Amino acid sequence: MRIYEVKDYQEMSRKAANILAAQVILKPDCVLGLATGSTPIGAYDALVEKYENGDLDFSEVKTVNLDEYKGLTRENDQSYYYFMHEHLFDRVNIKLENTNVPDGTEADGAKECARYEALIASMGGVDIQLLGLGRNGHIGFNEPADHFEKMTHCVDLAESTIEANKRFFASADDVPRQAYTMGIGTIMKAKKILLIVNGEDKADALAKVLRGPVTPKVQGSILQLHQDVVVVADQAALSKM
Ligand code: F6R
Repeated sequence: MRIYEVKDYQEMSRKAANILAAQVILKPDCVLGLATGSTPIGAYDALVEKYENGDLDFSEVKTVNLDEYKGLTRENDQSYYYFMHEHLFDRVNIKLENTNVPDGTEADGAKECARYEALIASMGGVDIQLLGLGRNGHIGFNEPADHFEKMTHCVDLAESTIEANKRFFASADDVPRQAYTMGIGTIMKAKKILLIVNGEDKADALAKVLRGPVTPKVQGSILQLHQDVVVVADQAALSKM
């Protein structure tokens, strides 16, 4: 595991974008595993800038997103489909048929999760998976539990996650209670993982993820067992190390 300590959010975003850009340059038809939330927005902006400068070509790139709220339509501005279009897909020359987000409108969870898992396998797996970190140590929407879920599955969101994400909704009651998410096994199959973390409110979680016991109570701690993880975190997020 390689840990880069950076000054702040801006530096984290630039470094993360450089790592993702290197992947795209080295393998133009790579599969990028992408994340949503507030953490990667700056990295997506930096990727768009590289594209606009003529330094990056997304025409052959394929993407799979980590997760999606169950029940939200693509048009809902809180869906992760909408987020990805707003922050990245509509701003670069990626082919929309090469982008994939779990379908939150599919009511049959088992069917959608099986479809998504098979889709990732059919693409040859993920070359680099971008991850943010939940304050409870979650990655994707793999919430603290007694075990690690292997495959893409439907999850009941933890109260702390609903609380953390309500800032994006009119009220906590509007936050969906369920989501489809890649499982820990799905994430761990990625050839490379890029974890980005900023802010003091993530410091406890990050210390547990990087140095604590590997436990499903802190789902991100499983990353200690992956062979190729790069962490880019700011000083505040690393302050409890
Ligand atoms: C998003 C995701 C989540 C977030 C995490 C951190 O696709 O899977 O695990 O990465 O909740 O969210 P932010 O970045 O909003 O603090």
